[in-house]
Amino acid sequence: MEVFFCRLLLLLSLVVLVQSTCNSTDHELVAKAFSSVSNFNISWLRLRPVDLINCSNPPIKELKLSSRNLSGIISWKFLRNLSQLHTVDLSGNSLQGSLPGWFWSIQNLIQVNLSGNRFGGTIDFEHTSGNGPSSSVQVLNLSSNRFTNLVKLSGFSKLRVLDVSHNDLRSLPSGLANLTKLEHLDISSCKISGNIKPISSLHSLKYLDVSNNSMNGTFPSDFPPLGGLNFLNVSMNKFTGFVGHEKYQKFGKSAFIHGGSFIFNISKTPSNHTLQPQSTTPPHKIQKHKPIKKRNKKHKPKTKTLVIGLSCASAFVFVSVAAFIFCVYRRKKALARKNKWAISKPVQQLPFKMEKSGPFSFETESGTSWVADLKEPTSAPVIMCSKPLMNLTFKDLIAATSHFGKESLLAEGKCGPVYRAVLPGELHVAIKVLENAKGVEYDDAVAMFDEFSRLNHPNLLPLSGYCIAGKEKLVLYEFMANGDLHRWLHELPTGEPNVEDWSGDTWEQLNGPGSHLSSPEKTDWVTRHRIAVGVARGLAYLHHVGSTHGHLVASNILLAENFEPKIADFGLQKLRSKNLGEIRQNDENTTESDVYCFGVVLVELLTGKQGTENCVKWVRKLVREGGGVNALDFRLKLGGGDSVSEMAESLRVGYLCTAESPGKRPNMQQVLGLLKDIRSSVDLS
Ligand SMILES: *[C@@H]1O[C@H](CO)[C@@H](O)[C@H](O)[C@H]1NC(C)=O
Ligand SMILES: *[C@@H]1O[C@H](CO)[C@@H](O)[C@H](O)[C@H]1NC(C)=O
Ligand SMILES: *[C@@H]1O[C@H](CO)[C@@H](O)[C@H](O)[C@H]1NC(C)=O
Ligand SMILES: *[C@@H]1O[C@H](CO)[C@@H](O)[C@H](O)[C@H]1NC(C)=O
Ligand SMILES: *[C@@H]1O[C@H](CO)[C@@H](O)[C@H](O)[C@H]1NC(C)=O
Ligand SMILES: *[C@@H]1O[C@H](CO)[C@@H](O)[C@H](O)[C@H]1NC(C)=O
Ligand SMILES: *[C@@H]1O[C@H](CO)[C@@H](O)[C@H](O)[C@H]1NC(C)=O
Ligand SMILES: *[C@@H]1O[C@H](CO)[C@@H](O)[C@H](O)[C@H]1NC(C)=O
Ligand SMILES: *[C@@H]1O[C@H](CO)[C@@H](O)[C@H](O)[C@H]1NC(C)=O
Ligand SMILES: *[C@@H]1O[C@H](CO)[C@@H](O)[C@H](O)[C@H]1NC(C)=O
Ligand SMILES: *[C@@H]1O[C@H](CO)[C@@H](O)[C@H](O)[C@H]1NC(C)=O
Ligand SMILES: *[C@@H]1O[C@H](CO)[C@@H](O)[C@H](O)[C@H]1NC(C)=O
Repeated sequence: MEVFFCRLLLLLSLVVLVQSTCNSTDHELVAKAFSSVSNFNISWLRLRPVDLINCSNPPIKELKLSSRNLSGIISWKFLRNLSQLHTVDLSGNSLQGSLPGWFWSIQNLIQVNLSGNRFGGTIDFEHTSGNGPSSSVQVLNLSSNRFTNLVKLSGFSKLRVLDVSHNDLRSLPSGLANLTKLEHLDISSCKISGNIKPISSLHSLKYLDVSNNSMNGTFPSDFPPLGGLNFLNVSMNKFTGFVGHEKYQKFGKSAFIHGGSFIFNISKTPSNHTLQPQSTTPPHKIQKHKPIKKRNKKHKPKTKTLVIGLSCASAFVFVSVAAFIFCVYRRKKALARKNKWAISKPVQQLPFKMEKSGPFSFETESGTSWVADLKEPTSAPVIMCSKPLMNLTFKDLIAATSHFGKESLLAEGKCGPVYRAVLPGELHVAIKVLENAKGVEYDDAVAMFDEFSRLNHPNLLPLSGYCIAGKEKLVLYEFMANGDLHRWLHELPTGEPNVEDWSGDTWEQLNGPGSHLSSPEKTDWVTRHRIAVGVARGLAYLHHVGSTHGHLVASNILLAENFEPKIADFGLQKLRSKNLGEIRQNDENTTESDVYCFGVVLVELLTGKQGTENCVKWVRKLVREGGGVNALDFRLKLGGGDSVSEMAESLRVGYLCTAESPGKRPNMQQVLGLLKDIRSSVDLS
């Protein structure tokens, strides 16, 4: 009881402090004002009993009638004498009509929320006697109404928060530039066209949403100072300009969705290239153009293609013919090899009899041979990393590959031949002969293989096992159904490099209708992006544990059944250098050189072209000049959303990775972050 009275007294003293006098007429006025508003109930305005003790009808300070299903028209004139009114919240109703200009001059009015109604007409401060030259309103929410370009704001100089989003303004509200105290401005979804420049003088802004209009202007010069902004959204407009790394990080990718023609420099170190805003070809034009180009490939030759062709080689005709012959040859080879990868059952294991003792010599498709200098093939054990109790020897490998026969040969890389085998226990493996590691000591090799086998990451192809047969080192990997990235990109249909006009037709002829070789994933940007992110993730992990790859190329990236990439051969460069091997100039085995190699793979993924030095140079030049989109693989289907700019951004990442100076390249963790951001909202966890 005592406690209750204490509280009561406290409340009363507060009430007394705030409202020194009572005004019995306010309730009647409000009742009159809302007399033609349906669902209005005057009893809502009754204050707490304590407020009524001394004063049956205190002056009304707050009119909070949010979401009361009110509809109709308010008779504003009755509210004119509510001199104590400071907050009006009528949001979320169905009220109509327009507001009189004097309303904004109510002396103590601070906060007005009319959002989510059907108000329309003019918003304009009307100067009345006894008031200052401007409205005292500081927070104004007019969002989701029917206001038009009759919103005139020059008299609202005390405004801090203004939300006029989702109206039909069609042009910037007049007098916006006078709102020097404005901190929060939302003019999104108002169908506003024209230049954004008038708001560049709003120096106090912390929050700016201009999204979903048709505004033009240059970013950032026509914008208010971005330093003070905590939130920015320029999406869905027609801006041009240059978005640096810092701004991109600060406001996020989703602040720039379809914002216009932006050039993104998302590198961490500020680039010193003077990039001009790309105002010539807005992305939507390119987006429209590409599929047409793809479909009408029989129409006149593309000048750009020709120019590129001509600049790449002096005799275009010769190149075309040579390319044709080369590609037909390659395709036949590719078909044969693809079939090897595609066989779902392992090659028939011919009855095999070990006749003589070693050394054993095996010939490969290219005519070279490798030799296992062993007397007894059972003397070289196969160490299976995850199954140490499996009792396999080199002899089992000979048996499983039909004496390392050509029909088991999957590929012949720089590092040596790769065979396919099914070992006892239904273990489907690829066996790689590390021809460059012949000189590595036995103990060194074992130590290194043990180290590799401990690295465990979904994007690294784990070493399943190894076998040291004489000087030859053989490593075993899990067999990957979709082969390697190089073949998938360049040797199979729709990934053919440097072939322009005739590619589609020839493929169709070669493969015939209903070819099993068409890979719909290949033309899918989402898949390629996933591959890029997976490779970046694997490489970032490798660097994280203090290792490097040393020889990352597309053919070292294998594709699992779901196209999840698996990096193979990591660390093998170490073996090679131990072998006093051929370390190319400027190609030390560093994280930076790995980043460069990753950049080349990324360029291949985006352009569909082989990552030759010339190709990388060409792409870098285009990106530098702001024409990166022109390098994109036009076979890539646009997977909805903002694919073209996503691809262009990714290509930019490739650009950063292939920076000539190793110190300027980002690290793999940063690269991974950038790539994930590019499609973060769409398909990544
Ligand atoms: C009370 O209301 C009258 C008009 O009805 C107004 O003139 C007067 O200023 C009000 N007094 C206070 C203290 O709000
Ligand atoms: C107004 O509200 C009071 C209490 O909330 C209720 O008793 C009364 O019936 C309501 N009047 C109308 C017209 O809805
Ligand atoms: C009414 O207010 C006066 C001071 O203005 C105060 O002394 C008195 O106790 C109050 N009456 C009640 C019933 O609270
Ligand atoms: C809102 O009011 C209308 C009439 O003005 C009435 O038909 C409707 O049922 C009401 N809706 C709710 C949710 O009360
Ligand atoms: C408001 O108050 C003034 C005097 O202060 C009075 O002349 C006028 O009629 C009042 N208006 C309404 C709508 O009550
Ligand atoms: C206005 O009302 C809406 C809906 O009730 C609310 O979400 C919003 O915070 C209010 N805004 C202001 C500035 O009061
Ligand atoms: C304005 O009201 C809308 C609801 O209609 C709300 O979503 C928005 O956040 C409000 N704006 C501000 C600045 O509070
Ligand atoms: C609005 O700004 C313009 C120029 O900046 C100035 O001429 C005008 O007087 C200002 N209006 C108000 C009401 O402050
Ligand atoms: C963009 O604006 C249009 C018209 O102003 C509106 O219909 C649409 O819902 C808005 N889109 C978004 C995402 O707000
Ligand atoms: C901006 O848009 C307006 C109206 O659509 C147009 O008149 C003006 O030329 C445009 N300015 C630029 C620089 O594109
Ligand atoms: C910016 O606006 C667009 C379109 O309305 C929206 O999709 C995006 O999520 C917004 N971004 C932010 C950061 O609010
Ligand atoms: C940028 O380039 C200019 C000349 O083009 C040079 O003077 C300046 O030092 C460079 N800045 C950096 C940070 O490399």
